[in-house]
Amino acid sequence: MIPAFDLSEELSNLQGEIHSALGSVLRSGHFINGPSVKALERELADYLGCSHAIGVNSGTDALVLALRALGVGEGDEVITTPFTFFATAEAVDLVEATPVFVDIDPVTLNIDSALVERAISPRTKAIIPVHLFGYPANMTSISAVAKAHGLHIVEDAAQAFGAQWNEKKVGTMGDVGTFSFYPTKNLGAYGDGGLVVTNDASLAEKVRVLKDHGASRKYFHEFIGCNSRLDEIQAAILRIKLPHVDSWNDKRRAAAARYSEALSNLKGIECPTEAAGAKHVYHQYTVRIQNGQRDAVRMRLNEMGVGSTVYYPTPLHLLPVYRANHVRLPRAEKAASEVLSLPIWPGIKPETQVRVAEALKCALSS
Ligand SMILES: Cc1ncc(COP(=O)(O)O)c(C=O)c1O
Repeated sequence: MIPAFDLSEELSNLQGEIHSALGSVLRSGHFINGPSVKALERELADYLGCSHAIGVNSGTDALVLALRALGVGEGDEVITTPFTFFATAEAVDLVEATPVFVDIDPVTLNIDSALVERAISPRTKAIIPVHLFGYPANMTSISAVAKAHGLHIVEDAAQAFGAQWNEKKVGTMGDVGTFSFYPTKNLGAYGDGGLVVTNDASLAEKVRVLKDHGASRKYFHEFIGCNSRLDEIQAAILRIKLPHVDSWNDKRRAAAARYSEALSNLKGIECPTEAAGAKHVYHQYTVRIQNGQRDAVRMRLNEMGVGSTVYYPTPLHLLPVYRANHVRLPRAEKAASEVLSLPIWPGIKPETQVRVAEALKCALSS
């Protein structure tokens, strides 16, 4: 069986370094708020080209903390995409604001920046663009709309570590950017982890305080915060992986180019593209299977030993928690019925991809 994702090669290449880093953390007896997190935060800020990086417990917490630091809360609306992982909207509800879903661009699958302006109301406080599957959202037009209407931007870059829009790393163009270090992400920990980045010193300080029980110093609690600290073990692992992330992203890009070359002339399938200014890091290589064939194609692939995944089968506005609002967003709904993510990871072998492509040709024609 060809899996949809495989960490085994990465693990075997890095295991010596990882074991010795884990040994150092264990021997140090310093597990929380220690030197590995501090060093990682500096290295991540340097890599991304921003002033402040704050390690937190998950990408979900990163979003919640970003919204809280910006003062988004009860009675506010936040515009976002319906075609993303649930956590994007869940974070908005967790701060007691309301997500307002805007339909997607059918080509990039990201929020359609041309539709954002129409969704703005007097209660709108922020926009959360998501760089879905590693493909940067159009930050030029989203920033222009936000500026014209005095709105905050929180970039959900959970799936797009290292992706760029006009040479800038995603996550660094809004007021705040958030990342997830979930193990399958382009930069993944071996457990949960997340990151908040910003160029605003006071927002950074607010996030630092909120993620540590609202205390600016020990036992001096100024706010109701939470416990959302990145731990030393995950930070030590991430420090080993960070120097490899560019080459891993290049390998993902090369793998994506091989798929596109093999598949783009086939009937009934649409391959991902890359707009001018966008550097896609292919967290997923997601095709669209047309003519209502997606589920049948996926089943045939499975029978031929090829794993694939549907991200996401239901757009957020149609999930039980949101569907009472009776919103219809036809492009997101169509995408949810057509998308299929093919096996991709940095070390995927070209011959494995040939097998995937052959199986897909066969599945499409049968
Ligand atoms: C777009 C998006 N936002 C937020 C998250 C939440 O990240 P985490 O799982 O680290 O909480 C994810 C995780 O899959 C995601 O894909």
